[in-house]
Amino acid sequence: MCSLAGAAIQLLLLQLATTAGTTWTAVAAANMAGCESKCGDVEVPYPFGFGTSNGCHRAGFEVTCDRAYRPPKLSLGSGGGGPEVLEISLRNSTVRVRSTVWSFPAAAAGTTSDARVDALPADLRQSSQYALSAARNSLVLVGCGFQFQATAPARQGNAARTFTSCAPSCPGAAQRKLRHGPCDGAGCCEAPIPTTGGGLTSSSFGVRFSWLQENATARRPAWVAPGANVFMVEHEWWRDRENVVPVKLSLLSAGGNATGFVIPAFLDWALNTSSSCAAAAKMPGFGCVSRNSECLNATGSADGYFCRCKDGYNGNPYVRGGCRGARRHLAAGAFLAMGVGIGMFLLLLVLGAIFATKRLKIHKARKMRQKFFRQNRGLLLQQLVDKDIAQGMIFSLEELEKATNKFDESRILGGGGHGTVYKGILSNQRVVAIKKSRLVIQKEIEEFINEVAILSQINHRNVVKLFGCCLETEVPLLVYEFIPNGTLYAHLHVDSPDQNPLAWKDRLRIASEIASSLAYLHAAASTSVVHRDIKTSNILLDDRLTAKVSDFGASRGIEIDQSGVTASIQGTFGYMDPEYYYTRRLTDKSDVYSYGVMLVELLTRKKPIVYISPNDVGLVEHFVTLLNQGKVSEILEEQVIQEGEEEGKQVAEIAAMCLRTKGEDRPSMRYVEMRLQGLQCRPEIDISLVEEDQLNELNGLTIRGGNNGNAGDNYCSRHYSIEEEILLSASLER
Ligand SMILES: *[C@@H]1O[C@H](CO)[C@@H](O)[C@H](O)[C@H]1NC(C)=O
Ligand SMILES: *[C@@H]1O[C@H](CO)[C@@H](O)[C@H](O)[C@H]1NC(C)=O
Ligand SMILES: *[C@@H]1O[C@H](CO)[C@@H](O)[C@H](O)[C@H]1NC(C)=O
Ligand SMILES: *[C@@H]1O[C@H](CO)[C@@H](O)[C@H](O)[C@H]1NC(C)=O
Ligand SMILES: *[C@@H]1O[C@H](CO)[C@@H](O)[C@H](O)[C@H]1NC(C)=O
Repeated sequence: MCSLAGAAIQLLLLQLATTAGTTWTAVAAANMAGCESKCGDVEVPYPFGFGTSNGCHRAGFEVTCDRAYRPPKLSLGSGGGGPEVLEISLRNSTVRVRSTVWSFPAAAAGTTSDARVDALPADLRQSSQYALSAARNSLVLVGCGFQFQATAPARQGNAARTFTSCAPSCPGAAQRKLRHGPCDGAGCCEAPIPTTGGGLTSSSFGVRFSWLQENATARRPAWVAPGANVFMVEHEWWRDRENVVPVKLSLLSAGGNATGFVIPAFLDWALNTSSSCAAAAKMPGFGCVSRNSECLNATGSADGYFCRCKDGYNGNPYVRGGCRGARRHLAAGAFLAMGVGIGMFLLLLVLGAIFATKRLKIHKARKMRQKFFRQNRGLLLQQLVDKDIAQGMIFSLEELEKATNKFDESRILGGGGHGTVYKGILSNQRVVAIKKSRLVIQKEIEEFINEVAILSQINHRNVVKLFGCCLETEVPLLVYEFIPNGTLYAHLHVDSPDQNPLAWKDRLRIASEIASSLAYLHAAASTSVVHRDIKTSNILLDDRLTAKVSDFGASRGIEIDQSGVTASIQGTFGYMDPEYYYTRRLTDKSDVYSYGVMLVELLTRKKPIVYISPNDVGLVEHFVTLLNQGKVSEILEEQVIQEGEEEGKQVAEIAAMCLRTKGEDRPSMRYVEMRLQGLQCRPEIDISLVEEDQLNELNGLTIRGGNNGNAGDNYCSRHYSIEEEILLSASLER
C-alpha cells in the first residue's frame, strides 16, 4: 500500500513536471504500475506482461508465467501453449525462445512429402507481431537421403517464395564421423530462414522433402536418426562446438525431442505490423509514449514499427517516463528565466518525494525482511530437532552483505543453473562461499529449508560443509566453507602443456572419497539424500586435493511424490542416468550411474559431454563396448596405463557395473566404496570376488585395516567406517 501511494505521488509529480515543460527525466518505471516485471529470472518489460490486472500488456503481447515449474516458465501467449521465453530485448526488438524440433518420417524414394511448420500456436500467428528472425537464426536439418525445400508464405503484399536449400549427404561407412563443427554436410546441413521480398519472414513456413536414395538408411551415419529433423537455432549459439554435439547426439537418443537442454532461437517483434511510424504516430494507441523516445520503421524480419530511447537515454520507450536520461539537459534561457522559480519548487518537491519513497522503501524492506525471517525461521525450526543448532546457523543479511561487499560482482566465484556463488569474508575472518539461489515459490522454499536441515546434519569430510544460512531474504542464502583449489574438472582437463593432470593415485583416492561421501548420503544420513548432479565440475578440491562434493542444496528443488516420480528431470547431459531420464523415477542408483560416468572420465581424461568416438557414439557407450571386447586399454589414458594399469582395469570394471542400464543391477555406492578402498589398501585381496552381502564382514577388515605395509601412503588411515561417520555426524560442531 505504501508503495502504491508512493508511486501515485511520483506519477503526480511527473505529470506536474511534464506540463510545466521541464526536461526532468524522472525516475522511470520499466513497467506499468502494479504489474509484475519478472518471471523467475526473466525480465518482462512492457509492452510484454502477464497477470490478472488489465493493462499490464499491450494487445498481442501477453505472456504467461507458470510458477508450477522451477524455475518458473515464461511462455508467449495466454494459454502457456506458446514457445518458452528465455529473454526479451526491447533494444533489439527480439525475444529469445526455446526452439522446437520438428520431425518428419522418411518416405519411399521418388516421393515427396509436404508440410507446414508453425513456430507459434494459432492465436499468436493471427496477430503476426512475431516473425522468425532471418538475421539471427539458421535452419538446421539433420537426416539423410532427401532434398529439402522451404517456402516462405506471402506477407504484406510480397508473394510467396520457394528456396531450394540443402540436401545433407550420406557418406559411406568410411566418413561417418560426427564432427564437433556445426554442419559439415554429412547428415546435417544448414539453410537460411525462408523470407519473402524485402527480407520479411513470418512465424511459419512450408517444407518439402524429396526422398532420394533407396538405401539412404543403410548409409546413414550412426548418429543420424531415421527421417528428418528440422529446427531453428541462434547463429551464435550453434557456432559453439560444445553445444552442437549434445544436440546431435540427443536428437538420436530422444527420438527428435532434444530434451534435457535448450536450443535457443530468436523471434523479431514489432508493433502494429500494418503500419509505419508516420501512420502510426497519428493513430490512437501509438506505442512510443515515453518522452525522449523515437519511432523506427521495423526492417529485417518483422514489419511495422518499434520504439527506442533516443541517444543518451536508456530504459523503456513503451511506458510514460520510461526513457531515463544518461545526461540531463536543461532547456534554453527563455525557459530558465521563466521557470527557475517553479523549477526550484518542483525540484524540492521531487527530491522530497524521492526521499519520502526511499524512506517508505527502506521501511518496507525492513518489514519484508522480518516477514521472511519469521516465515523461514519457523520452517527451519520445525525441521531441526535441536533448536540451538538452528540459532547457531543463522546469519544476518547485514553480515553477509558486509562479507561480500554488497554482493559485488568482483566477488562472484561462479554461477550455474541454480544460482550465483560469491566469495565472502565474515567478520571473524573466516572465508566462505555464499550461494544465492534462484528459487522463489513457497513450496520450493520449504524444500530448500528441508535441504538446509538435512545438510546441517551432514558432517562428512568429503562433503562441502554448510555453515548456515540467512533467512531474511525471500529465498534463503546459503553459507558454505570456502574450498580454495577449484574443481576436479579443472584439475583433470588441464589445457596448458606445462600443467600436469592429476596423478593416477590421486584420482583413485578422490574417486574413493567421492564414493565414500555418496555412500554416506545414500545410506547413513537420517533421510536418504540423492545428489542428482554428480559430475567433475561439482567436485571441489581443497589445498591437499581432498575431494569435497558440492552443489546439493538448491539443486534438489524437485518435488518427489510418493512414487518417486519427479515432475521435471534434472542433471547434466552426458552424466545423466538414462533410466531416470526415461522413467523420471529417481533413486540413489541414478547417482551411481553419474558416478560411473565420472570414473570413466577419470580413467580416460575425456569429457563426457563432448566426447565422440571414431564410430560416433558417446563416451559411455564407447567405453563399455571396448571393455566388453576386452580392449579397454585402448581408451585408458596413457598416464593411467603407466602409473597403474592393473588398478585402472579394475576401476574400469567397477565403472561398467555402475553404468548398467537397469538401476537395480547397479551396485550400491557402499559396495563401490569398499572395492575402491580395497584397491588402495590391500591390492592382494581381490574384492571383486566378494558379494555385497559379505561386505559387513569385510568391513572391519578392510576399512579399519589401517596401514598395512603402505607406509608411504596414508590413504587407508584416512578412511573411517560408515558407523564412525554416523557417530561423527551425531556430534555436530560448528
Ligand atoms: C542485441 O543485438 C546485438 C547485436 O546483434 C547483440 O550483440 C546483443 O546480444 C543483443 N541483445 C540481446 C539482449 O539479445
Ligand atoms: C539397397 O540395399 C539392398 C540390401 O542392403 C541391396 O540388395 C540393394 O542392391 C541396394 N540397392 C541399391 C540401389 O544400392
Ligand atoms: C516427444 O515430445 C512429444 C510431445 O511433447 C511427445 O508426444 C513424444 O512422446 C516425445 N517423444 C519422445 C521419444 O520422448
Ligand atoms: C494499425 O495501423 C492501421 C493502419 O495504420 C490502423 O488502421 C489500425 O487501427 C492500427 N491498429 C492498432 C492496433 O493500432
Ligand atoms: C517509415 O516509413 C514511411 C513509409 O514507408 C516513411 O514515410 C517514413 O519516413 C519512415 N520513417 C522512418 C523514421 O524511417
